[in-house]
Amino acid sequence: MNLYRIAVVPGDGIGPEVVDIGLGVLHHVANKHNFKIETQHFPFGGDHYLKTGETLSDESLDKLRNFDVIFLGAVGTPDVKPGILEQGILLKLRFQLDQYINLRPVKLYPGIDTPIEGKTVDDIDYVVVRENTGGLYTGVGGISMKGTVDEVAVQSMVYNYKQVSRCIRYAFELAEKRPRKILALIGKTNVLTHVFDLWERVFNDIGASEFSKVTREYYHVDAACMHMVKEPERFDVMVTTNMFGDIVTDLGAITQGGMGMAASGNIDPTKTNPSMFEPVHGSAPDIVGQNKANPLATIITVKMMLDFLGETEAASEVDSAISATLSGGIDNSGTSEIGSKVMKNLSS
Ligand code: IPM
Ligand code: MN
Repeated sequence: MNLYRIAVVPGDGIGPEVVDIGLGVLHHVANKHNFKIETQHFPFGGDHYLKTGETLSDESLDKLRNFDVIFLGAVGTPDVKPGILEQGILLKLRFQLDQYINLRPVKLYPGIDTPIEGKTVDDIDYVVVRENTGGLYTGVGGISMKGTVDEVAVQSMVYNYKQVSRCIRYAFELAEKRPRKILALIGKTNVLTHVFDLWERVFNDIGASEFSKVTREYYHVDAACMHMVKEPERFDVMVTTNMFGDIVTDLGAITQGGMGMAASGNIDPTKTNPSMFEPVHGSAPDIVGQNKANPLATIITVKMMLDFLGETEAASEVDSAISATLSGGIDNSGTSEIGSKVMKNLSS
């Protein structure tokens, strides 16, 4: 019987509420599909930082390395200055565990309203492959002459061949497995002429030499945003940089029904390090403890985790339970009611 070791980091705000529901779903499908999960909880997040001064120490990080996957709720509290927890926990995990792919499906489920008039589940179903360890997020740069009129602030978009090629290759492999087999590079070749020269060259080289069945497309990021709203059916798989991926996936999330529906996997495809699965939304301190958080983003995240672990039957059962729940309507349902509905729709 397969055993998966899962490090659970519920985090702050609504994180623990939605993670609880996700764990219920995981345990349920594990029983039914004959695999075992072993979980261990870790306290990292804003509250832990305020109590202990620790964001995520190297020793703590080493403990997490022993797990198959990490299941993260959300980190962030209003009492902690922006940047500290993001850099100290989330980005540290992504970078140190070399989770170089941030996989973010943009899929409209039946029964969910999209703000884009006239579009249906057939029109909104693509995946964004966001590069997750480089670019503007590396923090390369600095400030000098701070506080004077001569102050200079620099933050560079840094990419090397290795980072670009491994990300693009992953995206091609994914596109090749999907029925439409279209991969769009999202860039800004007309302005960021160095970085996207590299991206575009690698994209075309790898595509031509290794993935002849995949159709290659290119969009400037601004135009891509327009098409994501006007004609989302154009897209099948997108590949892009860390910063552009961050931005376009929030736009994508809104078209799929909001942050309550957006899931993600921070993946090390080599499986050298644990991959980390998290809903895209934040800790939403304004609605904490009110049974208002939508747990579906987390349940979709669980489905992604199951797929990653190779438990594809369990994953598709979770997916069907989500669809069944939505077809019954979730209007006015709170966190726990949606959770119970999904549990009921998972066959026993
Ligand atoms: C995300 C978030 C993070 C990011 C923040 C919290 C650092 O917005 O996961 O999309 O920018 O990657
Ligand atoms: Mn974001």
